[in-house]
Amino acid sequence: MLAIVSVGIANMLILQRVVILWEHRPIILKTMTVGFLLSFSLQVVSMVFTLLHVLPSIQWSEPVGMCIATKSSHILIAVWASPLVFEMFVLSSTALNALDRPRTLELPIIKALHSDGLGFFLAITCLRILNLILAALSRPSLTFLGVFFIWAMTTTILNRLLLHLRRAECRPSPSDPFSCEFETDGQGSDVDMVAAELWDRRRSRAISPFGLIPLNGERLSEASTLSGYSDQEQGHARGLLGEIQPLPYVYHYRKRVHDPTSRHASPPPPPSASSTYCSVLLTSPILFFRTDRYWDTMRAFVINDYAHPSKIPIIQGFPEPKASKGQVLVDVYSAGLNYFDILQSQGKYQVQPPRPFVLGNEFAGKISADSPIPDGCPFRPGDRVFGGGQGAYAEKVAVAWQNLVPLPDNMSYDQGAALGAKVIAAAGSQEKLDISVRHGGADHGVNYSKDGWQKEVLKITGGKGVDVVYDPVGLIRDSLKCIAWKGRAIVVGFAAGSIEKLPLNLVLLKNISIVGIHWGAYTKFEPTRVPVVWRSLLDLFSSGRAKPIVYPETFPLERLADGLQAIEKRKTWGKVIVHVRDPERSQARAKL
Ligand SMILES: NC(=O)c1ccc[n+]([C@@H]2O[C@H](COP(=O)([O-])OP(=O)(O)OC[C@H]3O[C@@H](n4cnc5c(N)ncnc54)[C@H](OP(=O)(O)O)[C@@H]3O)[C@@H](O)[C@H]2O)c1
Repeated sequence: MLAIVSVGIANMLILQRVVILWEHRPIILKTMTVGFLLSFSLQVVSMVFTLLHVLPSIQWSEPVGMCIATKSSHILIAVWASPLVFEMFVLSSTALNALDRPRTLELPIIKALHSDGLGFFLAITCLRILNLILAALSRPSLTFLGVFFIWAMTTTILNRLLLHLRRAECRPSPSDPFSCEFETDGQGSDVDMVAAELWDRRRSRAISPFGLIPLNGERLSEASTLSGYSDQEQGHARGLLGEIQPLPYVYHYRKRVHDPTSRHASPPPPPSASSTYCSVLLTSPILFFRTDRYWDTMRAFVINDYAHPSKIPIIQGFPEPKASKGQVLVDVYSAGLNYFDILQSQGKYQVQPPRPFVLGNEFAGKISADSPIPDGCPFRPGDRVFGGGQGAYAEKVAVAWQNLVPLPDNMSYDQGAALGAKVIAAAGSQEKLDISVRHGGADHGVNYSKDGWQKEVLKITGGKGVDVVYDPVGLIRDSLKCIAWKGRAIVVGFAAGSIEKLPLNLVLLKNISIVGIHWGAYTKFEPTRVPVVWRSLLDLFSSGRAKPIVYPETFPLERLADGLQAIEKRKTWGKVIVHVRDPERSQARAKL
């Protein structure tokens, strides 16, 4: 809002100067005032609408440590487009006026345009156009940076324009006839006559871009020479004129007259540039005020309002996370999709970070080049790693270094992000069962969508039942029908949609243990176990006893919601991966 008010004040000053340049003509004053009021009111109204639109999306972000706008508004374009109309009008009318102004032969058109401050008007218009482009295209978090930048630059240029015009109003007029004093022999010689006549012609001529227009109403040719005088005399006379040193003289732009009364007045001192520097100094702190946090932004899947992933767009300009104490920054290349992401994005998961937050918990990537390296951290920038931590569906994540494990060279980022995959020996379709056996190392497959599937398990185990039930679906109660004496049922999750309730007599009957496992909570309660588990998994992987299974269709970050929906619709198996960065393209860029 402050920026809008300052733009309004700046435009009023511009209006004032243009009206002066146009000699206070009432028609110009009225038209410009109407234009100014219209554009300013439109700007204020559209700003109010933009604020109403964006305000709900401005929230405190814990990882970023400041309030951020996570949504941009298209109405913002109207905020910066409306003063531009006024700007264009000012620019064209000033150009027209400068071109139309009578001027002496010696003054080139470009100088006349410059003396009316056209360069400054042009610069201000270009800045406003740039601002419009920024408002239309920039990432939400960068929009305000653009405004600050343009605001600072416009203030500076406007300042220069005002100083420039003030100087133009009272500058010496070098070619003015009144300032000329001949120093000839004073005898009324031919040379004196020639010089006087030439001078007279010069002072009587003014040009407009459309040709010579004499001030005295007579059309003259610039190339005209004097007849009746020898070439030598004319040459001598021209030489004399060339030596004339103009005296200080005041030309009043406002009155458009050469003022003889101030003929010998000393010229005003050149305007000091200090006010310009002051304005730069005053605006630059605003420009840099906490904007360090705005410079680096990334693509991210941000949960601002709880909603199904399909309703959440990828944000292009989310501020990159800052590593807090003990954390490193990781450039994410691939991330693993989980069923609980669908729950977390809707606020239905048992662990909900404060909003806005970046979704995703499993990733593989490289330690960022600009990552701090905490004491004791074995990683260096560029090291390939994988691990877990909130915010994986973004180009960068900040994570405690203890949650990371080196990614072996023979493993791709996709496989790294898939290391959390579980071999499912029981599934809901024949296709998934085949995959469990073929790729997951399962010896048997049982389709739990068929009634009586437990009998099949009992048959396979020779009537004993299974020692361990690993259940991410929510089928513990059904599984207990085929669990062995002293068996262990591990509660992993409830993909079927509802949290299971269990009659405890079932636990007692076979001396079984029901064990919950919450992997994410290990980072909080038992962080030292995390790398141990990862290393065991890596050992399993390198020994060939297990391998991470990646679902054949991988998704770019922009289609993350499609990947999550595929999980939700039970289409997927193995680990579904989202490609956050393209490793090949990143390498090519690095080579460039
Ligand atoms: N405890 C932990 O530390 C931890 C860690 C990660 C995930 N989880 C939880 O574990 C559960 C599974 O997560 P995940 O990421 O591993 O998913 P997932 O196994 O990749 O996919 C879920 C599978 O569950 C089965 N399913 C059965 N009924 C379903 C239904 N109504 N809707 C959707 N799927 C259904 C589907 O297989 P079929 O088609 O073969 O039936 C589906 O493929 C989630 O509840 C999640 O929150 C827990």
